[in-house]
Amino acid sequence: MIKVGIIGVGAIAQLGHIPSYQKVDEVEIVALSDSNKKKAEAVAKKFNIKTYFTDYKNLLKSNEIEAVSICTPNFFHQEQVIASLRAGKNVLCEKPLCLNAREAEEIFKETEKTNNKICMIAYMRRFMSISQILKELIDQGELGEIYYVKASYLRRRGIPTAGSWFTSKEMSGGGSLIDIGVHILDLSLWLMGNPTPLSAVGSTYAKFRNEAVSAGWPPASTLKGDKFNYNFDVEDLTSSLVKFNNGATLFLETSWAGNSETEGT
Ligand SMILES: NC(=O)c1ccc[n+]([C@@H]2O[C@H](COP(=O)([O-])OP(=O)(O)OC[C@H]3O[C@@H](n4cnc5c(N)ncnc54)[C@H](O)[C@@H]3O)[C@@H](O)[C@H]2O)c1
Repeated sequence: MIKVGIIGVGAIAQLGHIPSYQKVDEVEIVALSDSNKKKAEAVAKKFNIKTYFTDYKNLLKSNEIEAVSICTPNFFHQEQVIASLRAGKNVLCEKPLCLNAREAEEIFKETEKTNNKICMIAYMRRFMSISQILKELIDQGELGEIYYVKASYLRRRGIPTAGSWFTSKEMSGGGSLIDIGVHILDLSLWLMGNPTPLSAVGSTYAKFRNEAVSAGWPPASTLKGDKFNYNFDVEDLTSSLVKFNNGATLFLETSWAGNSETEGT
């Protein structure tokens, strides 16, 4: 039996991590933590989890817990991943891993000090059957040389709640690129065999912040006790081109909002 703790029990914890762990016989969620006490208490009751904390450091003190899911706003990720690794836990951290490359390097250094602990980012799109089949075909050479990849994650009307941490650069690290773009960037790099990037050029736009067209995320049912009063200072659309050392090129476009003809990935 793998004993798990959940840090941050907002939308993705309630709609993804907790119900998914509870479907697996070999996993038991023994505790959760959320800085919002009302929410921690309500979610523990809803999912029949016996222990809850308001300070995640108390959850990490439990010797029973072997692995944690980190489902907090982006700007807590680095601190909580490092604290979890230092407490001897395996980590599944929600995307994005952290806010920038410097923070990621510090996490990477920390993973090297652990005794083979797993530190994994929740890039679940790699595990979708369509991605697995495509990867297999590429690895078998069925598609030939992969020298040009065009990847889009476009929402026409899909900004996560305005004024929540999602739209504050300080708390989220950015808008559509770090929020949804990371999924297709990860998938593209993985399918391309992780070539080394040589250069990148891109543009960001923020044309929709006064309209704040909603994505319906996080869903109201998961927001108990949350307060929104942050800035809206992130982008809603990005376009970029990355060149790699093997000659390949990746064209990447992301939007939370835009008047594109179609949307999707
Ligand atoms: N994999 C995906 O497709 C996917 C989808 C949605 C969100 N996410 C990611 O999941 C993370 C959470 O997003 P969400 O939509 O659930 O947000 P949310 O705002 O609904 O939930 C965040 C929760 O963290 C709690 N929290 C804040 N600070 C905390 C702290 N210091 N310790 C413990 N709890 C704390 C909040 O009270 C809240 O309950 C983000 O990193 C987001 O990018 C991933």
